[in-house]
Amino acid sequence: MLAVKSGKQVEFSPAAMDRAREIISRYPDGKQKSALLPLLHLVQDEFGNWLSVDSMDYIARLLHIQPIEVYEVATFYSMYNMQPVGRFLLEICHTGPCEIRGAEELISTLQNKLLIKVGETSADGMFTLKRVECLAACGYAPMLQCGMHYHEFLDSEEKIDRLLNDLRSKATQNN
Ligand code: FES
Repeated sequence: MLAVKSGKQVEFSPAAMDRAREIISRYPDGKQKSALLPLLHLVQDEFGNWLSVDSMDYIARLLHIQPIEVYEVATFYSMYNMQPVGRFLLEICHTGPCEIRGAEELISTLQNKLLIKVGETSADGMFTLKRVECLAACGYAPMLQCGMHYHEFLDSEEKIDRLLNDLRSKATQNN
């Protein structure tokens, strides 16, 4: 589902625009649409880890393509967030091997501790829960991804508590 259009002006910072131009320049003339995936990642990096309709329209203008061409790609891949997310997006794998090794217990423990359901963000804006398909760490199941990091063998409440506490203290240190 696409978030409502806010009408807010979206524009890359000068540094991000330099990066966007460099990405677009990797592709031959007329094939700029190929830069779409990395540009959507850049948008998430710049604008709070999600894609608003305005930001996707901005990318469409930058690549001289139709907005629908951006929406159809953005909504296909789970790595793009179509709604605002918390400071830490916990992407929990629920494919076969993780499922067998306790993905549902992991999800249910996180839901109970954070008082939210999958797809929601905790009241303090700190955590969002998301189900994803195999993250290629099946031998370390059950696991989740948070940002660039994998957290593996999350098979006990103690490990889950430790992870949440570590992330909370990381947030405090970065404030
Ligand atoms: Fe979970 Fe592959 S099944 S990482």
